[in-house]
Amino acid sequence: MIQGALFDLDGVIADTSVYHFQAWRALIQTNFHKKLPDELEQRTKGVSRADSLQAILDFLQIDVPQKQFEQLMIEKNQLYLQSLEQLQPKDTLPGIVALLEALQAQKIKIALASASRNAPTILAKLQLTDYFAAIADPAQVQAGKPAPDIFLAAAQGIAVAPKDCIGIEDSIAGIQAINAAQAFSVGVGSAQELGAADLLVDDTSQLKLDIIQTQFAKHIQ
Ligand code: G6P
Ligand code: MG
Repeated sequence: MIQGALFDLDGVIADTSVYHFQAWRALIQTNFHKKLPDELEQRTKGVSRADSLQAILDFLQIDVPQKQFEQLMIEKNQLYLQSLEQLQPKDTLPGIVALLEALQAQKIKIALASASRNAPTILAKLQLTDYFAAIADPAQVQAGKPAPDIFLAAAQGIAVAPKDCIGIEDSIAGIQAINAAQAFSVGVGSAQELGAADLLVDDTSQLKLDIIQTQFAKHIQ
């Protein structure tokens, strides 16, 4: 029986992962006059702000002093926050509110396991905060995704053992993190990228609780 549901946010609850990458692109264009290739989008999905910037600079083979690194992170976040200004409840991805309602109806506890420090702001803008019994703080965990830490913290926040939880993710790093936490991983995206997920759906409209429960039951047999 599923007792807890651990949600990623960007790309699962709202389509904000697109805004993250647009902000990185604009930042790199303005500061280094370089265009980031599409492949870096998936590589930075689910990855913390600092780790994403490091991955991007490594890719471009650019070395910056610590002070500039921090300045770039601030600038990226300002660009990202601008794109969140228009965010409204209607921007919640299809099927998410129905899934949250279904989980709540079955008394399955809900927690957020996002790497984003902006997650509480986004949940508030989407008017979804009340569904969440716990929001794991990415600033308090040792290692970011693909390490399991944020999912373990989210499970702990609702006092449910990770093995009794499902985790929902759209990133490769996120599915690895759920699997490492030994929760049941539900991927939203393509088999090519998220083949390691215990259950895979094409998009959020297909996240149906009865289907997830059936697969979860088979998995633990
Ligand atoms: C999520 C996104 C990443 C982002 C990270 C940190 O995991 O998928 O693209 O880098 O959160 O977000 P933040 O809002 O704290 O910069
Ligand atoms: Mg995500």
